[in-house]
Amino acid sequence: MYNPIVIIFSVSLLMRLASPIKDCQIQTCNGLVIKRPFWIPGLQEPGCGSIGFNVACKENRPLIQINGTGFIIIDIFYKNASFLLAQSRVSDPNVGCVAPQRNFSVDRTPFEYGLSTTDLFFLYNCKTPYDRETYDVGCASNTTGHYSFAVFHLELLQHWNYSARSCQAPVNAAVEADDVGRLVNMTYVEILKKGFVLQWGEHDCDGCHAGYAGSRLNFGVKICIGIGAALITLIVCAIFSIYYHKFKTNHTTSSQSYSLSMSKDLEMAGVHIFHYSELEQATDHFNPKEELGDGGYGAVFKGKLKDGRDVAVKRLYEHHYRRIDQFVNEVEIVTKLRHKNLVTLYGCTTCHSRELLLIYEYIPRGTLAEHIQGERTELESDSMLMSWRCRLSVATETAGALAYLHSVGVVHRDVKTSNILIDNDFHAKLADFGLSRVIPTDTTHVSTGPQGTPGYVDPEYNELYRLTEKSDVYSFGVVLVELISSKPAIDFTRKIDEINLSSMAMKKIQDGEVGELVDPNLGFESDEKVREMILGVAELAFRCLQNRRDLRPSMEDVAIVLKDIQRMDVMDIQ
Ligand SMILES: *[C@@H]1O[C@H](CO)[C@@H](O)[C@H](O)[C@H]1NC(C)=O
Ligand SMILES: *[C@@H]1O[C@H](CO)[C@@H](O)[C@H](O)[C@H]1NC(C)=O
Ligand SMILES: *[C@@H]1O[C@H](CO)[C@@H](O)[C@H](O)[C@H]1NC(C)=O
Ligand SMILES: *[C@@H]1O[C@H](CO)[C@@H](O)[C@H](O)[C@H]1NC(C)=O
Ligand SMILES: *[C@@H]1O[C@H](CO)[C@@H](O)[C@H](O)[C@H]1NC(C)=O
Ligand SMILES: *[C@@H]1O[C@H](CO)[C@@H](O)[C@H](O)[C@H]1NC(C)=O
Repeated sequence: MYNPIVIIFSVSLLMRLASPIKDCQIQTCNGLVIKRPFWIPGLQEPGCGSIGFNVACKENRPLIQINGTGFIIIDIFYKNASFLLAQSRVSDPNVGCVAPQRNFSVDRTPFEYGLSTTDLFFLYNCKTPYDRETYDVGCASNTTGHYSFAVFHLELLQHWNYSARSCQAPVNAAVEADDVGRLVNMTYVEILKKGFVLQWGEHDCDGCHAGYAGSRLNFGVKICIGIGAALITLIVCAIFSIYYHKFKTNHTTSSQSYSLSMSKDLEMAGVHIFHYSELEQATDHFNPKEELGDGGYGAVFKGKLKDGRDVAVKRLYEHHYRRIDQFVNEVEIVTKLRHKNLVTLYGCTTCHSRELLLIYEYIPRGTLAEHIQGERTELESDSMLMSWRCRLSVATETAGALAYLHSVGVVHRDVKTSNILIDNDFHAKLADFGLSRVIPTDTTHVSTGPQGTPGYVDPEYNELYRLTEKSDVYSFGVVLVELISSKPAIDFTRKIDEINLSSMAMKKIQDGEVGELVDPNLGFESDEKVREMILGVAELAFRCLQNRRDLRPSMEDVAIVLKDIQRMDVMDIQ
């Protein structure tokens, strides 16, 4: 009697012996080079690539499964750790209607969206058509009486209330939106065929959950688990005590502060309108204990909405904005901005007789400033501070968010470490962007110019009275120096020519004394790789801090250089 299991075993053993497993030799599929971190099971050993990067070469097409969906890899850009891919069903002649039926997500995959990757949303079988610009997806409707279409910016449809129009739950597909003008004339099939870019980061939790980089942290997983839990508890406690401030604003109300038309406009634009009472409840009547701090335009409170979402509620005072139409316009823009490293604006209030409230996503771990300097006393020891690798990853993400803002024509105007928030997974979330054109930032600092924060302001501002993208680049240069030095941007206890961190840094970098600038706890002396990376960042900061705007790199270039520096770290370890 033949035992079937034995047969299967021996067949697979035979196949394994017969198949030409060539260690980690580079493979190609339809001319595309497949090498680490990608690998082809069967042709390469599992150790030749990373989990989630396994490629099947079927009928000369490189295929990869991500989040349960099959994709064809169109190109791989090893130099900037990204690849272009498109859903395989889009080019499958057996699929009649290629509109996606299942949501796509890169959560729990090794990938993240590229700089201009965004979501296109598909709505199927609605009872009424949508009256604005959409992509027709008629093939997906089950009967003639129903309408199916695709739109960017699902949030714009909220006022249209797609559930009330009996549309099925929306389904998203990742697409490339680098050239929105051209997309207008394309069909959704063409857009899907064009594909989109995903990138693979090297920074997952490497170093982020650990303390200082005294030892090699590349096997970060172990450390993540160990130190992570303790760290989370302590930092959360610290943040709560740090943020506790006296409730100092008197609760004056301002009648007819903005007209009914304003809220109509906002609602039309798809900005979610919250009720004042809802937020009063969410913040326990603006309980001073829930105050997170002063966010430039007004006090910020932590709140919990009825649906369970944690939010940061920002209170704006009437005198803080000038023209209502301009304000509405800005809120509309900010609501449409979507980037994984930008704090999301959920909506605002109308509250005809009270001050305006803006409702943002709540970011739990406080500001970058607290993680690298300053509130040391609140943290138990130096080891609670952020490691070099985590700092670099936060810098890279922030640069990506700023490059995105610039690509859509928004200047941040107040880039600083206290406007960079840190989320649960130690990812950066840039805050307070977009509204600065209509709301002057914190005017209580006597020494503040009309805009920006001392220590971060573009020196050319004094001549030109205009903040541009390159002013953000300058401020970001100061952030980079803070990251390598753990010193505040301005410190009056330093020597007179070193009060401004930027002047101090320029001098030290120029004189080749970067070592004197660097926080000794980061591993600059003990870890060759860290040293190399810090020197790279110092050089980049030097370029960002040039007095003349035209000598500074663009934010996009800054983001690319930072990614390259991150890549130095993993280069010859594999
Ligand atoms: C895709 O990702 C979403 C969000 O993380 C998850 O809920 C879903 O289970 C994933 N689907 C598959 C097939 O992996
Ligand atoms: C990498 O470079 C390619 C082409 O050079 C580009 O298309 C792609 O968008 C880049 N990826 C990222 C993440 O910038
Ligand atoms: C078409 O889809 C709508 C919305 O999901 C559903 O209510 C309706 O029953 C479907 N009709 C047919 C004929 O399947
Ligand atoms: C949208 O429609 C659903 C179902 O009819 C309803 O429960 C919900 O309150 C509506 N939402 C808004 C914002 O009108
Ligand atoms: C897809 O994700 C969106 C949120 O992005 C959600 O509203 C929707 O219900 C999901 N659709 C399905 C079919 O699960
Ligand atoms: C889109 O098509 C219209 C009409 O065919 C044309 O006038 C317009 O220039 C096109 N836009 C782009 C960005 O190609």
